[in-house]
Amino acid sequence: MAKIVGMLTTSHVPAIGGAIAKNLQQDAYWKPFFDGFIPVRRWLDEVKPDVAVVLYNDHGLNFFLDKMPTFSVGAAPEYHNADEGWGIPTLAPTRGDLDLSWHLINELVDREFDITTCQEMLVDHAFTIPLKLFWPQSPCPIPAVPVCINTVQFPLPSARRCYAFGQAVGDAIRSWDSDKKVVVIGTGGLSHQLDGERAGFINKDFDLKFMDSMINDPAWATQFSIHELVEKTGTQGVELLMWLAARAAVPGTLKKIHSNYHIPISNTASGLMALATV
Ligand code: DHB
Ligand code: FE
Repeated sequence: MAKIVGMLTTSHVPAIGGAIAKNLQQDAYWKPFFDGFIPVRRWLDEVKPDVAVVLYNDHGLNFFLDKMPTFSVGAAPEYHNADEGWGIPTLAPTRGDLDLSWHLINELVDREFDITTCQEMLVDHAFTIPLKLFWPQSPCPIPAVPVCINTVQFPLPSARRCYAFGQAVGDAIRSWDSDKKVVVIGTGGLSHQLDGERAGFINKDFDLKFMDSMINDPAWATQFSIHELVEKTGTQGVELLMWLAARAAVPGTLKKIHSNYHIPISNTASGLMALATV
């Protein structure tokens, strides 16, 4: 059976794509952010996962407001990126893993998650930029399966529901008849709000508590309603649901490889964690 080697969680901000394209990794603004990824890449070089399952939220590239699935899973041979209007370069397609995709889809439907199956799927910055940060080579050297959770159009799935979804994703990966090593990735958050009266809102206290809960109390954030999470983390901070689902997919005691928290990247409190299965 497949083995989950650990989980990686990171913020995803389009401006990071611009900084990579302009080689600004050593620039004073960007260095504290990019340096966080060095120990994580070292760990990835050691454990060499064969495939990544990426929990992320689309921002209107693949799903627009006219059709918005709550949970969706990619089942394409490869995933293309496209211009989202942020002025960032379009990245090379990422290979998929059809066998893992269909196993996930079958298991999730069997567990009563009524997902949308996507045999064609454009992937936006929330998928491509984290992969580029973890594997700077182009194209990404390992295949990946996109798993998307709606955090852009209400109603959003509750934190409790996302946690249960993550548990089902993890169980599905572990029951995959394969000798492959899988890494689970969750992208989004941490606190940020891009629009409205509270634009620029950041909540460092909450973010740090949430990051601590990833290690010591993985279900801690399930106590909050979506509206409470928006209040505490901002309208886009609610993307932290991806971290929660990723952690639920990799339960039990994990070894902290590295974490980083840096304010701001663009409008976002950026967080990074790498936790290994023990
Ligand atoms: C920003 C953050 C995001 O999560 C996103 O999807 C787009 C933009 C930002 O801070 O600029
Ligand atoms: Fe986002």
